[in-house]
Amino acid sequence: MGRNRPGPAAHVANASFATHPDARGRGVARALVGHAKDWARGQGFRAMQFNFVVSTNADAVHSWQKAGFAIVGRLPGAFLHPRHGYVDALVMFHDLTGAADDA
Ligand SMILES: CC(C)(COP(=O)(O)OP(=O)(O)OC[C@H]1O[C@@H](n2cnc3c(N)ncnc32)[C@H](O)[C@@H]1OP(=O)(O)O)[C@@H](O)C(=O)NCCC(=O)NCCS
Repeated sequence: MGRNRPGPAAHVANASFATHPDARGRGVARALVGHAKDWARGQGFRAMQFNFVVSTNADAVHSWQKAGFAIVGRLPGAFLHPRHGYVDALVMFHDLTGAADDA
């Protein structure tokens, strides 16, 4: 967890998550992203942005959407997937200035 960009963009946070394969599907990421949002709000960040979510990563896209993130950008063919070839990457964004109980 940290700022996404320095200077005039430093009010937007960023975070990365990975759950051990043996522990997936049990709500670990849901808990982590909830904690990250609380932390970011506490630090005064106004939003959280994920810069590069691979579009075929369905578990991640589902998890982040359920946590309140919107897909705000699509980078066509920006990721060379080892099985699917060139696939899109998504920019996902969550405004944190509203109510804190939205995810
Ligand atoms: C994406 C990732 C972090 C999700 O972690 P997780 O701890 O398994 O996610 P959760 O258990 O909190 O699941 C959140 C939601 O996604 C579903 N889900 C996620 N992974 C799942 C899985 N492997 N099997 C079944 N359901 C899964 C859950 O059912 C849940 O949905 P629900 O709330 O509608 O029931 C994990 O798959 C991962 O580490 N992937 C590799 C690294 C990665 O891609 N990181 C993100 C980069 S943007």
